[in-house]
Amino acid sequence: MANKEQSQEWLEQQIERVESVLDQLMPAATTVPAELHDAMRYAVLGGGKRVRAALVYAAGEAAVQGTELSSAQMKALDHAAAAVELIHAYSLVHDDLPCMDDDELRRGRPTVHVAYDEATAMLVGDALQPLAFDLLASMPIAPALVIQAVSALAKAAGSQGMVGGQAIDCASVDQSLSLEQLRQMHRLKTGAMLEVSVLLGGIVAGASSPARQQLLEYAEAIGLAFQVVDDILDVTADTATLGKTAGKDAADNKPTYVSIMGLNESKQLLAELKEQASKALLPLGSGAKSLALLADFIVDRNH
Ligand code: IPE
Ligand code: IPE
Ligand code: MG
Ligand code: MG
Ligand code: MG
Repeated sequence: MANKEQSQEWLEQQIERVESVLDQLMPAATTVPAELHDAMRYAVLGGGKRVRAALVYAAGEAAVQGTELSSAQMKALDHAAAAVELIHAYSLVHDDLPCMDDDELRRGRPTVHVAYDEATAMLVGDALQPLAFDLLASMPIAPALVIQAVSALAKAAGSQGMVGGQAIDCASVDQSLSLEQLRQMHRLKTGAMLEVSVLLGGIVAGASSPARQQLLEYAEAIGLAFQVVDDILDVTADTATLGKTAGKDAADNKPTYVSIMGLNESKQLLAELKEQASKALLPLGSGAKSLALLADFIVDRNH
């Protein structure tokens, strides 16, 4: 029980930390063009589980195996954690647009194109993306590590990562996908950004290459698990708990783990992915305890 409370406390601290970093590093809502900056802040602040940011911090801790991170490394982790949340927030703003999933509710509030307008929502996404890369570029660590981080985030967010997965998702409405095609779509649209969150923590904290390999195995398992849970919750949770419209996948005839495998088999797959994630962490020892708690959080979450 004490452990569970400590875990909860750790997670809350990371959420608070990244929210304050985001708040400080984003342009003020009064900076010209004020409407755009106001909408950017609306899209990013006040809501969200901050799982990707927490993964950056947890992977940083794991990479130094229980020793202290320097203050420069902590600042770099802050920038990396904020960067992945910015890309993620932009992906949600665009995902909700009428030309994509056409959703009106996100994080319990009207989506950006509803609260503002469609052009603003598009521009919010366009502006959040370069801001993320600027934060990585200003990390106070060795330039070679900065370059690795920028390249990793660019690949994860791009056409062979998140955006590629979103393209497959758009093309898959009313289609039946094989399990392998579905897995590929999920790994790209959701897995890639979760994987890079873990990788960035490892890069910033100077993980050795065997440690990076373990981090990657862990990240692949939880990255896929995250979207399997998202598909399950779309069917099992209610709109108030989710903060986004429940039942939307079935209403839009989207192929999901639940529609293709069924609910029970999807839950079985989750148990296997959780097992894979915890096996991958074994060689990293007790420094990986926050990553272990995040695997539990991702699989057991209710929203
Ligand atoms: C939702 O992501 C979109 C997916 C990639 C499945 P999250 O469930 O992490 O959304 P927030 O950030 O907590 O709102
Ligand atoms: C979204 O997947 C993935 C990205 C935003 C990249 P979904 O469309 O399933 O996410 P929700 O359910 O709207 O949050
Ligand atoms: Mg979508
Ligand atoms: Mg959606
Ligand atoms: Mg979904």
